[in-house]
Amino acid sequence: MSTVRTQTTSPTSPGAQGRDAGLVIEGLRLSIGGTTILDGVDLQAPPGQVTGLAGESGSGKTMTGMAVLGLQPTQARVAGSIRFGGTELVGASTRSLARLRGSRIAMIFQDPTASLHPMLSVKAQLTDHMRHHLGVSRAEATRRALELLRQVRVPDPEGALQRYPHQFSGGQLQRIAIASALACEPELLIADEPTTALDVTVQAGILRLLRRLCDDLGIGIVLITHDLGVMSALADNIAVMRHGRVVEHGSRYDVIRHPQHDYTRSLIDSLPEHQEPAPAESTPPGSTPPGSTPPGSTPPGSTPPGSTPPGSTPPGSTPAESTPTSHTEGGPDGR
Ligand SMILES: Nc1ncnc2c1ncn2[C@@H]1O[C@H](COP(=O)(O)OP(=O)(O)OP(=O)(O)O)[C@@H](O)[C@H]1O
Ligand SMILES: [Mg+2]
Repeated sequence: MSTVRTQTTSPTSPGAQGRDAGLVIEGLRLSIGGTTILDGVDLQAPPGQVTGLAGESGSGKTMTGMAVLGLQPTQARVAGSIRFGGTELVGASTRSLARLRGSRIAMIFQDPTASLHPMLSVKAQLTDHMRHHLGVSRAEATRRALELLRQVRVPDPEGALQRYPHQFSGGQLQRIAIASALACEPELLIADEPTTALDVTVQAGILRLLRRLCDDLGIGIVLITHDLGVMSALADNIAVMRHGRVVEHGSRYDVIRHPQHDYTRSLIDSLPEHQEPAPAESTPPGSTPPGSTPPGSTPPGSTPPGSTPPGSTPPGSTPAESTPTSHTEGGPDGR
């Protein structure tokens, strides 16, 4: 059963099929050697919003992200539809998918080293990427690389450009991987468990960074995480996957506060500190009331989203329900 409510962008609304619809996946099926991996995935990820993708291990979250980039295993058979900015990607040529990857759609992974070359300086990784995809001069690429490192708040950006991946902490590396993903100004960022491997205090800074990129740059983000606590603090919309299908999809508030599917309910019930926050019906999905805390931001000394064990962020809490804003991301060392 698929439960889909409170869609921020209805599949039938004007523009939903066009460029401003962002990512629209319909009936995506993927099988490998006769084994069904994705069994009709429906998912939307509008621009300027964080769409959370949750679900048990093996439910197909990563495979869905990889399929969007055309990076599924070579023996996989894919059917259904993945439209991005109105363009159909299922069946698109290898060449056009390669053009799309790293330019209009980027992906980051749990292990930031998966996105970075160990033998290349940060400068080389960021600028090569830009020169290849954007065709800018070396000087312009270096200027942009510095700006990106500032944007993701890597300490000492000038020095960082000259260094190599092994010379950074895990949190700093994830920031550099995000900078690399942003190098070509993508419209969609797929973040697959981007904070799972990081220390809890570092997680919060990365999550705030993702939220800021979404809000400031209007990038659509698909945030894959098994951590419903993180999800409830950061995502505008949440999709829950099980057995290769999205079984529930709606606004964060609806999915967390009024889960329709038994599986979603069991996920929420399993959160260790499942609390009932104050109702926030008046808060539309993806919006933050004036004067309230932007999603993912946390005051000094308080508990930031994602810095707690899974689920200890009150499920369904909105930023409006949390404490005042701090614009500090990570510690003074940029972790
Ligand atoms: N290269 C592959 N060849 C065959 N099967 C695969 C391959 N990669 C993944 N699978 C299978 O596809 C299914 C979905 O895997 P996927 O990695 O998308 O799960 P997931 O939801 O991301 O899980 P997790 O939360 O553990 O990361 C799993 O049953 C997995 O075993
Ligand atoms: Mg995965």
